[in-house]
Amino acid sequence: MSVRTPLIAGNWKMYKTCGESVKSAQQLKSLVEGVTGTDIMIAPTFTSLEPVFNAIKGSRINLGGQNLHWKTEGAFTGEISGDMLKSAGCSFVIIGHSERRQLFGETDESVNKKITAALSCGLKPVFCIGESEAERDSNLTFSVLDKQVQAGLRGFVSDDLKDLVLAYEPIWAIGTGKTATSEQAQEVHTFLRASTAKQFDDALAQSMRILYGGSVKPANVAELMSMPDIDGALVGGASLDPETFSQIIKF
Ligand code: PGA
Repeated sequence: MSVRTPLIAGNWKMYKTCGESVKSAQQLKSLVEGVTGTDIMIAPTFTSLEPVFNAIKGSRINLGGQNLHWKTEGAFTGEISGDMLKSAGCSFVIIGHSERRQLFGETDESVNKKITAALSCGLKPVFCIGESEAERDSNLTFSVLDKQVQAGLRGFVSDDLKDLVLAYEPIWAIGTGKTATSEQAQEVHTFLRASTAKQFDDALAQSMRILYGGSVKPANVAELMSMPDIDGALVGGASLDPETFSQIIKF
């Protein structure tokens, strides 16, 4: 069990219309009434952000964006800025999700700029990293993750990163039903904490929340959360149904 406040975050990806998002958020709000000691976040699509924010007011559910652009404004058709997310009610933003990296050309450099943009407007970044199956099979997991962390956090000092959440999401476990075992995840989280201590300092490494993501569900969340360095979960598929997600939140 971690000594840090757990964070259970739901990434709704490109699912749910505005009406469906609001309905799910309302259901979730009543299902998690009475939950204490765990932080909760949901990240609906951009068009649902403000209506969902209104639906979760008065609850302990936080709102997150799924992406942002690093500029504050400009001629960038189809993009959204950190200030826009904030004004829609977001306090978190997911950055560098593997789907963004694999399908939409996100690089370590753009991730770095996005983390800078998020922090400078007061959004808490949920910074995603993860190795592919081929990289794991070639024993490259640690070197790949180390490179992603170093490049993503280049130019920061420890004090800048107090609000940053790291999310370890092995690509082979996302949406596949294959979960890293709790031991595999713990091993990586220990490594990430040690490399954060090396790149920054021990205080940051000890306070930084590291989430696990990849096929988290009610049946495996308790075991994952029993590990000392797993501080929460970033949940895709199983966050879409409020009842199922509430079971994960109540691990
Ligand atoms: P999954 O997705 O829970 O459906 O595997 C996790 C994620 O993409 O954040």
